[in-house]
Amino acid sequence: MRIGLIGCGNVVRYCHLPALRRISSVEVVAVADPDPAAFQRAGAGTITAFERYEDLLARDEVEAVLIACPSHLHANIATAALNAGKRIYLEKPVATTLSDAVRVRETMERTSGNLVVGFNRRRHPLFEQARALVRKGVIGRVRAVRSSFCEHADTLPEWKRSRTTGGGVLIDLFSHHVDLLRWFLDTEVRDVRATIGSEASAGDTARVDLTTSGGTGFQGFYSFRAGLSDSLEFIGEDGVLRVDRHSPRLEIKVRRRGYGLRRSFVAPTRDVSRWWMRRLVHPSEDPSYFRALVAFADPLRSSSGSLATIDDGIRSLEAVIAAESSAEQERTIRLGTT
Ligand SMILES: NC(=O)c1ccc[n+]([C@@H]2O[C@H](COP(=O)([O-])OP(=O)(O)OC[C@H]3O[C@@H](n4cnc5c(N)ncnc54)[C@H](O)[C@@H]3O)[C@@H](O)[C@H]2O)c1
Repeated sequence: MRIGLIGCGNVVRYCHLPALRRISSVEVVAVADPDPAAFQRAGAGTITAFERYEDLLARDEVEAVLIACPSHLHANIATAALNAGKRIYLEKPVATTLSDAVRVRETMERTSGNLVVGFNRRRHPLFEQARALVRKGVIGRVRAVRSSFCEHADTLPEWKRSRTTGGGVLIDLFSHHVDLLRWFLDTEVRDVRATIGSEASAGDTARVDLTTSGGTGFQGFYSFRAGLSDSLEFIGEDGVLRVDRHSPRLEIKVRRRGYGLRRSFVAPTRDVSRWWMRRLVHPSEDPSYFRALVAFADPLRSSSGSLATIDDGIRSLEAVIAAESSAEQERTIRLGTT
């Protein structure tokens, strides 16, 4: 697959480009970014570079594009890429407004286009194993989920400081966890209650309390003003499972005979073991970017449900927007009525 990268900032520099270079079936043939310094920072080397993404889209040798620019530009660029007949890996969020996200879906339908959304944690081996165990019933029926996702962002790019350009922790961080909630439990978000704080930039801290269509409760804390955290704890009728992106192991506690909990040992899957081996040399690498792009590069797998679809992206954005409406109106919002 010959791919072009649109946007050459941090996530491309630290995650996508190193991952793409490890995939033998992929060749990065072009990059586009209005900031020429971005190519050098990302280590794009001799890859053909454009300052206008339209010029990259005009190249026939570019079969697919990865869009990773400021989030408010996603919809227009994805629409242009679909019209140019490219396959698309679109970083989350699909768009910053629902009407833009729906426009992307309509263009996909009209062009019979192929687009996946970059909710890469779906391809993290530990999250895959956690989901399989939850769905197998290891902790019984899930009654509640606790989530936290924080990044201490001392310096944020300008676009992440304002909601209109895609800033704020709800659209940036919560959007991932609401996708995981839906994916783990095969459920939809029903009622949302949230509060948002803006200390150093718009919406840089938020608390969310929601209920799914299956009646599971979910509480989350998100912040650009707290230390690193990215974990979900599933509280079931028979035990508790915790999955943490900053930890190599799942933590599972199940009911003891009588009273109390005991730790339950689960053997790592083959994919988790492989990741552990790689961690010896690359301790801070997140395997999910590589694995998501491997799946994207294989057309059979990218349509087999292992990656998030446009509908998943829209559902996540709906939950984000419901949380924002809830904070503004100081009331619970039922999805479908925003
Ligand atoms: N899936 C994940 O875990 C994950 C992680 C980080 C970022 N992201 C997403 O990736 C996107 C980029 O995030 P980032 O942290 O790399 O941001 P960044 O600010 O570091 O980089 C954005 C880049 O886009 C460029 N750009 C601006 N306008 C452009 C245009 N018209 N055409 C092409 N490029 C343009 C900027 O010059 C900059 O180099 C965001 O949508 C973000 O939500 C996803």
